[in-house]
Amino acid sequence: MANVITSAKDINFTISDLPTMPAPSRVLMVKPTYFDVEYVINPHMEGHVGGVDKMQAKNEWEHLRDGYKELGFNVHVLEGQKGLPDMVFCANQSLPYIDENGVRKVIMSIMHSDQRKNEVSHIEKFYEELGYKIMYLNSDKVDDFEGMGDGLWHFKRRLLWGGYGYPSSLKAYEQISEKLDVPVITLELKSESFYHLDTCLSILNEKTALIYADAFTDEGLEMIHKLFDTVIEATSYEAEKLFAVNAGCPDGKNVFIQQGCTDVTQKLRDAKFSVHEFSTYEFIKSGGSVFCMKMMLW
Ligand code: ARG
Repeated sequence: MANVITSAKDINFTISDLPTMPAPSRVLMVKPTYFDVEYVINPHMEGHVGGVDKMQAKNEWEHLRDGYKELGFNVHVLEGQKGLPDMVFCANQSLPYIDENGVRKVIMSIMHSDQRKNEVSHIEKFYEELGYKIMYLNSDKVDDFEGMGDGLWHFKRRLLWGGYGYPSSLKAYEQISEKLDVPVITLELKSESFYHLDTCLSILNEKTALIYADAFTDEGLEMIHKLFDTVIEATSYEAEKLFAVNAGCPDGKNVFIQQGCTDVTQKLRDAKFSVHEFSTYEFIKSGGSVFCMKMMLW
């Protein structure tokens, strides 16, 4: 049965009541060979069509890939595809999961914009080769869902946080909750600049989240504060211009973040995280940064 939570009063558990889930050990990245801004499907892309410095993008991407390797992750690299400039944001085409029996499953996305729909089959092939059980949403009932751009696993717990309002719709979470047998806390996104949940919520570990508060409704903020002991807030400048909240904390300790987020970086260090800064300026032109340039999987 689906368990989709839309209000804090329906949260009748604490995080430690939830079953545990192993942390991912692999990272998928897609080479930026064909990355560019070729169209505008989010406000960050405006004014940047044709404006990506390809050499710089390649350097930024390679530096990030090396960062994951240095942390000890097994990094899989896929070739990019000509004509699919956004495929490099490989957090978006799927939502992987590992169940209680260790079976690896993945729900393939239904991309919102036509320009990105063809990315999904390339990523699906990769999961097939890894031996994942591939699952699909019923497209008669769900218009769109953009994978781990909007569906974020709670760190090491069987709980999904689901953003909706821009490229993903609320209806998707009913099917996801049912198919994976997990509760989903849904968060309505109310600002176009923070169109994916991963632009305004970063789950750092079981107890700590980094957020940009103005992107959420009051109800959403109440749910976040109810389940996280510590909520670190980014300023509007760092969240919107530097994608501070598109940070990632793959192991609960080390945070990868766009360089120059001085306020958030200080707050993270005060909370005892190790901060690693990366330049992702070329990718910010397309509306993405550290978190959405990779997929964490098992
Ligand atoms: N240009 C891409 C788009 O608008 C950027 C995606 C970034 N991904 C993310 N999860 N924030 O679809």
